[in-house]
Amino acid sequence: MAEIKIYPTKQLVAENFSVFFKKLITNKEAFHVALSGGSTPKIVFDHLATHFADDIDWSKILLYWGDERCVPPTDSESNYKMTLQHLLSKISIPEENIFRILGENNPKQEAKRYSTILDENLPTKYDIPKFDLVILGMGDDGHTASIFPHEIDIWHSKANCEVAIHPDSAQNRITITGKIINNAEVVAFLVTGPTKAEKVKEIIKEIVGYKNYPATLVNPTSGELIWFLDSEAAKEIC
Ligand code: 6PG
Repeated sequence: MAEIKIYPTKQLVAENFSVFFKKLITNKEAFHVALSGGSTPKIVFDHLATHFADDIDWSKILLYWGDERCVPPTDSESNYKMTLQHLLSKISIPEENIFRILGENNPKQEAKRYSTILDENLPTKYDIPKFDLVILGMGDDGHTASIFPHEIDIWHSKANCEVAIHPDSAQNRITITGKIINNAEVVAFLVTGPTKAEKVKEIIKEIVGYKNYPATLVNPTSGELIWFLDSEAAKEIC
């Protein structure tokens, strides 16, 4: 059963998630985390950069991405660029700890390459690469990572990573799959804002049709799934 944490504001989501993150890495020699794009992680990254730059030993943190847009790292759409601006440029983390998805590469080749990166660098559980933490957002349409409702079958892929297509922009994306997400030790959903409230209600209360949303399929075998919501995103379940 998922744990649901609700805070009055996005900022308090960021502050409390940061404390949660710090606790998770305590006593770990190497902590493998998959980051998410989106607006809520941006606030979290700003908070971590401001208040935890010296409070966390970033040399123990190995950073990956749960998804990336197939654009160069200099593109305003790039999740890596957002992370660089809001976090990486403000903390001291060894270059070799950063496993960027190469959005500038051929998508099919990059999905294969990144799948191998996960195989080669992550510990395994059930012979599947295991993240210590996967951070996810959720789109207004119930997508997560870059698995969208119109191609929800990507979730069930046997591959670690797949090429996805944004339903509106047709932009190619690289995304980790359900096999990786549900094998993580801990999964944290960071979901804020009023546009998420309807889907949060449908998914949490299992309202008819909820299984059509990829976010519904997030159910780590570890049982460690935590939703970090602000009041706006949680207003239909309170
Ligand atoms: C991405 C993200 C994506 C995001 C959701 C929610 O690359 O865009 O990984 O899954 O988390 O779209 O984004 P917002 O929090 O900005 O609504």
